[in-house]
Amino acid sequence: MSAKIISGTEIAKQIREELKQEVAELKAKHGVVPGLVTILVGENPASVSYVTAKQRTAHDLGFHSVQDTQPEDISEEDLLALIEKYNNDPDIHGILVQLPLPRQIDESKVLYAISPDKDVDGFHPVNVGKMVIGERCFLPCTPHGILEMLIRSGVETSGAEVVVVGRSNIVGKPIANLMLQKRDGGNATVTICHTRTKDTAFHTKRADILIVAAGRPKVITADMVKDGVVVIDVGVNRIGQTPEGKAILCGDVDFDAIKEKAAAITPVPGGVGPMTITMLMKNTVQAAKQFAGLA
Ligand code: GUN
Repeated sequence: MSAKIISGTEIAKQIREELKQEVAELKAKHGVVPGLVTILVGENPASVSYVTAKQRTAHDLGFHSVQDTQPEDISEEDLLALIEKYNNDPDIHGILVQLPLPRQIDESKVLYAISPDKDVDGFHPVNVGKMVIGERCFLPCTPHGILEMLIRSGVETSGAEVVVVGRSNIVGKPIANLMLQKRDGGNATVTICHTRTKDTAFHTKRADILIVAAGRPKVITADMVKDGVVVIDVGVNRIGQTPEGKAILCGDVDFDAIKEKAAAITPVPGGVGPMTITMLMKNTVQAAKQFAGLA
């Protein structure tokens, strides 16, 4: 059996069409144009490519989009002042500071400085806390994208054994939390594996839905999953370059072998990546509506 491929590219396209219409309506009926600033510090090639993709999408959807690139050696004080400027800018509804940040900057200070009302990444502790107790808030984009992929692909999560590999604040912890909540895409029984888990394969073999955000290429092999599993691969690993200089990517799971056992699987690229960007756009539209008193 070869798995159904869950195409993030296709699902993201559908959601972007919905958003495009919503943005056009907001503009026509209420004169509201969602505004997004992406702040990039330095020139990390992966960060440059993520931020470029976010800006391109914002522009395509009709947003007011601002790319603010700062030098690698910017001081923490100057970066915090920049964030405060955008907190007070009525044309900007969403602020994204691309991570990771250089060593001289305390990441948590930066994330705390973004107004929770403009925190479209969902990283501010106010939004994290609201997410954990199931209140309305900006959900972090990658976990939010994973939920949408599962829901729109008709994967039953209620009562499912979900195993998450990875415990980052950006993916592992929030997706585990969301999937155990009483909500669409939730109601699962959730296990989290991490670098100190004694026998990861014992857990992954039990999974009905396996979500891998380990940050290491192909760490999940076919012998570690059961027949009929649904696999969401969050990994984006650069494993080489084409002669033209384009990055060669692979996920955290051995896609070619696992697709022969799984019921459904996300590819890399074209899986979770496009969904992350799309949920950022959805959050920014939400922020603009809230700012205008329309939501
Ligand atoms: N770096 C890697 N993923 C992300 C993300 O989702 N948001 C931000 N701001 N930085 C990232």
